[in-house]
Amino acid sequence: MVHVLLKTALLLLLGAACASTAVKERAPLDPSLPPQQRGRILYETSCNKCHALYMPSSYGAGEWPFYVRKYGRKARLSVEERDLVLSYLQANARE
Ligand code: HEC
Repeated sequence: MVHVLLKTALLLLLGAACASTAVKERAPLDPSLPPQQRGRILYETSCNKCHALYMPSSYGAGEWPFYVRKYGRKARLSVEERDLVLSYLQANARE
């Protein structure tokens, strides 16, 4: 009896673990929005998973490509999405 209960608990735990690791789909971006606005949305929803957002003005336009490349993959951005994020950051970068 205890055995059966344990097994059930284990299965429930496994189920929960699977559900939580499932990749969550982002809501699709409205393609009619200007690219920089899409980039901003992507930046604000993808780059704050591990740390607070850095101000776009924290780095120069020449520095952002390095960081977007470095962290874009971690944020699970596609190449197209990375380009959008980069265009937003560069447009608002430090002078
Ligand atoms: C999976 C976690 C994770 C995600 C997602 C993430 N970052 Fe980071 N980021 C880090 C960590 C960890 C550091 C600190 C690195 C260090 O100090 O070694 C960091 C630091 C930074 C820095 C400071 C410079 C540096 O390298 O220390 C910038 C700029 C940055 N991240 C930009 C971004 C951008 C842009 C995105 C979205 C495309 C992003 N991050 C998404 C983990 C992440």
